[in-house]
Amino acid sequence: MCGIIGYIGNRTAVPILLDGLRRLEYRGYDSAGVATLADGKLEVRKRTGRIANLAELIQQSPPAGTVGISHTRWATHGGVTDANAHPHTDQSGKLVLCHNGVIENYATLRDQLTREGHTFHSQTDTEVLAHLIGKHFDTAGGEPTRARLVEAVRNALKQCVGTYGILVLHRDVPDAIVGARRGSPLVLGLGKGENFFASDVSAIVAHTREAIYLKDYDIAALGRDEFEITSLLGGASGFEVSKVEFTEEDVSKGDFAHYMLKEIYEQPHTIQDALRGRLSREEATAKLGGLDMTPNELRAIDRIILTGCGTACHAALCGEYIIEALAHVPVEVEYASEFRYRNLPLPKDTLVFVISQSGETADTLAALRESQRKGLRTLGICNNVGSTIARESDGGVYMHAGVEIGVAATKSFTSQVTILALIGLLLGRIRHLSTSEGLRIIDELEALPGKVERILALDSHIAAIAKKYAHSQAMMFLGRQFNYPVALEGALKMKEISYIHASGHPSAELKHGVIALITADLPTVVVAPEDSVLEKNISNIEEVKARKGPIIAIGTEGCTKLEKISDAFIPIPACSDYLAPVLTAIPLQLLAYHTALHLGCDVDKPRNLAKSVTVE
Ligand code: AGP
Repeated sequence: MCGIIGYIGNRTAVPILLDGLRRLEYRGYDSAGVATLADGKLEVRKRTGRIANLAELIQQSPPAGTVGISHTRWATHGGVTDANAHPHTDQSGKLVLCHNGVIENYATLRDQLTREGHTFHSQTDTEVLAHLIGKHFDTAGGEPTRARLVEAVRNALKQCVGTYGILVLHRDVPDAIVGARRGSPLVLGLGKGENFFASDVSAIVAHTREAIYLKDYDIAALGRDEFEITSLLGGASGFEVSKVEFTEEDVSKGDFAHYMLKEIYEQPHTIQDALRGRLSREEATAKLGGLDMTPNELRAIDRIILTGCGTACHAALCGEYIIEALAHVPVEVEYASEFRYRNLPLPKDTLVFVISQSGETADTLAALRESQRKGLRTLGICNNVGSTIARESDGGVYMHAGVEIGVAATKSFTSQVTILALIGLLLGRIRHLSTSEGLRIIDELEALPGKVERILALDSHIAAIAKKYAHSQAMMFLGRQFNYPVALEGALKMKEISYIHASGHPSAELKHGVIALITADLPTVVVAPEDSVLEKNISNIEEVKARKGPIIAIGTEGCTKLEKISDAFIPIPACSDYLAPVLTAIPLQLLAYHTALHLGCDVDKPRNLAKSVTVE
């Protein structure tokens, strides 16, 4: 869940590597480092903390060279120290390596190499891999060529168990960087007289929009004007050059103070983009060509599994309520990390959707492969074009939400819920939904962007509420039906960026234990738009009020009954029950954002987190 980037060309490598690391920093920010090669000399600079720390170190003595590799770390093995920062060198000191992933059998390999006289300076699995490749290179003999380095990488990786995206540079092979992947993403960027490696294209889009998404077991040797991709098992490996859809501007903050705020404000457009070209008024239904299923195949589906991690799993929970309401097909939601190890009896007409913004989350990818192993049609709902989940699923729906850089997912959540509503409409229309019902749902969907604009206009009102309760030790989030998953999502947002211990619950669970936590110092956020369970939510609010708990309510404009009994009220435009989660989530995103801002937290790079969890 680290970020790696490599450059080989005719320009000075370090500024390009530093700029790329800054764009990858959302993938991990415990430490960072670069290694360059010039005149037969390797130079390594690494330091704990943000890229800014590394840039400061580099300023003191800038390493030379037009070829280099670099890394920003999310610590898995070994504490956050300079010694554990990447790149790591081998025993000879002539080879350097950066790694994103986990080598599970590193301890065995380490003991074996130690017995052979190797000395290690860090606690990382990565240093062991560097030594192993170095050993194979040194024992191979002959001229120090690119082919010899590729062979050394291949032989070493064959001894490894685990996941990796790696970049390798050897002092004696100055005309190449070797990269390889299994389980962790790695992209090759094609330039003119220069080439790039990166964990994701946002790090290199400023230089090229020609990308090759490497597949698992690919090993790529990259020169200034040429490259070669082979497979770990030997022999050439096929590839496709893709055009990167987004621009450098799309990955910049623009005038916003934080990526998270920019992405919250992008939601009227991203919801529009999730709907674009997917609504047919003529047939009063949704058009989702990417599912690649005939109406008969869709009609034969008698069970749906939705799976993902974190926010994606909360979107799946909203999808459960929405699809059951619109299509009357039984839906189950599974955390991908549980689904991949469960032995769930899955009848053959079960359709599985894996949901992932990044398309690289390890547990969700494993859930996809487990479901396919069981012979089930497994579709993806992804944002990242070219991501592993998008490429390996049997079809699916792209979210078109644009790059999401803020670690806290925002626009991806509302985009996923909108797409799940489209799936509900599609399946409902080939079952029991009438044309007029279909058209009403289309009206509701098309009205969403405008309604989101109106909620964003409440930003300063929500900021004031956030300020009032920012110093709470804990917070509670409640919701019922379609909005119970929104309560979970609101609590997750608050936890991950303000570090306030927040929990989400179905409102009715209050009386079964949760109410014991209620005090005058614990604010309870209740997601209670005007729907079939509003009165039930109001009774729960009364129970909290009876114990002096302050209430922040998200309710429908004009709902005076709710406003009266709340200490703070955030009105949202009226909408159908099943689409309410797209609207009710946004005040919770802003509440968490302004709370974190008020507490001086790093909103875009919250502690201990990273944007894409590519390790198990
Ligand atoms: C949400 O704010 C978090 N960043 C995290 O829970 C995230 O939703 C989860 O890791 C899943 O990521 P994905 O959608 O990229 O698979």
